Amino acid sequence: MGTFWIGTGWKMNKTVAETRRYIAALKGLWPEGAGGCTVFVIPPFTALAAAREAIGTMPLLLGAQNMHWAEAGAFTGEISATMLEEFGIDMVELGHSERRQMFGETDAALNMKVKAALRHGLRPLLCVGDSAEERRAGASGEAVVRQVRLAFAGLDAGELGRCLVAYEPIWAIGEGGVAATPEEVRAVHADLHVALKEMGGPAVPVLYGGSVSAGNAADLAAEPMVDGLFVGRAAWTPEGLAGLIAAVAAARA
Ligand code: PGA
Repeated sequence: MGTFWIGTGWKMNKTVAETRRYIAALKGLWPEGAGGCTVFVIPPFTALAAAREAIGTMPLLLGAQNMHWAEAGAFTGEISATMLEEFGIDMVELGHSERRQMFGETDAALNMKVKAALRHGLRPLLCVGDSAEERRAGASGEAVVRQVRLAFAGLDAGELGRCLVAYEPIWAIGEGGVAATPEEVRAVHADLHVALKEMGGPAVPVLYGGSVSAGNAADLAAEPMVDGLFVGRAAWTPEGLAGLIAAVAAARA
């Protein structure tokens, strides 16, 4: 069994001071048995430097929530991979449905971002998700496979092997979202694994995200097709993340 990925994206939450407090507290709460997990946090850009410093030698990976595909230039308000590299980050989240829906992020832009991240040694965490309408039409697998194929177009096996995918149903995310059932997750993850294999990659880990909680994390983590969990609200406190790591570690022990 490979490592199990578990991490949290903070969205537009937490100041520098809050970030320092979160990571210091997480250090104290670090669960025994977390060794089989690869844990990551994805703070806002403004807190990356503080997070890096607070992490020190903790086995905690650090990611950014977005980046531009160009090296530099006239892109007001954007941040490049070169800039992110300075923070010693490990990964970059790309294509969260909030970015696709509210900020017009396209599959073509994501393809350029994935390639830029890989050029800079950052591991892309590509988020894909089906809408409620696609789900009703029985097109969930199709919808997310299309997103993966477009975002990863042109990657060779070595590059694919450095990527992560998060299946995050749009209908499952955030306030008012309802987590997918382990059966639903199993079906979509199976489609994603088949497509990723067809694309020539070595096993690309596929994480699940969307209303993951203390109540469902263990069941989701026990699914053989689930290689990790990507968590929002339930991991925005250090106690929340530590509890989820412990639950996942126990479920997979
Ligand atoms: P949630 O968010 O866990 O709060 O539903 C998940 C996400 O947006 O990645």
